[in-house]
Amino acid sequence: MPEVVVLRWGHRYRDKRLTSHVALTARALGASGFILADIKDAKVKETVEKVMARWGGVFHFEMGKPWRRVVKEWRAKNGVIVHLTAYGENIQTSDILQRIKKTGKDVLVIVGSKKVPAGFFSEAVSDFNVAVGNQPHSECSSLAVFLDRFFEGQELSKDFVHNANMKIVPQARGKKVVKV
Ligand SMILES: C[S@@+](CC[C@H](N)C(=O)[O-])C[C@H]1O[C@@H](n2cnc3c(N)ncnc32)[C@H](O)[C@@H]1O
Repeated sequence: MPEVVVLRWGHRYRDKRLTSHVALTARALGASGFILADIKDAKVKETVEKVMARWGGVFHFEMGKPWRRVVKEWRAKNGVIVHLTAYGENIQTSDILQRIKKTGKDVLVIVGSKKVPAGFFSEAVSDFNVAVGNQPHSECSSLAVFLDRFFEGQELSKDFVHNANMKIVPQARGKKVVKV
């Protein structure tokens, strides 16, 4: 399976939780890494590291790297770049997902926050502009749907036991957590 890494552009300090949620969505839905572009936020890092320490898995977290450098390095490694945007090709009504998968390459998924630079839509940055429906919603929801479709649901049964302290035992009711 190709590797997927998420690039978050446009973190807002007044809304740190949303960036944390994007990172946690990336981790829980099968991405192997998350990059918070351009800026550093210790609170986001702490939140993600706490989750990783408790619930395990292998996940790479990085912040502060300029988005242009991330794109350049990703291209140099021959990966493809997917920009999630309400204005892109519809993931349901077009063949864009098949075209992405057909490349067989690792994928860098860019999600924005406020209005992204116009250049994100260009070939210089994105190989594919993907819309999770053509209505505006959220970076978390669009990322979750994209990852779930990309991994065809397999990511939901992923084993995070490596490095984990705790594991949830699924229950019809109530909460059961065991030490691992
Ligand atoms: C809250 S939206 C803000 C969009 C911004 N107002 C604009 O016009 O570009 C933040 C991010 O969520 C993602 N997003 C929102 N709706 C989407 C959709 N329908 N399909 C794909 N991505 C979407 C995009 O990555 C977008 O940059």
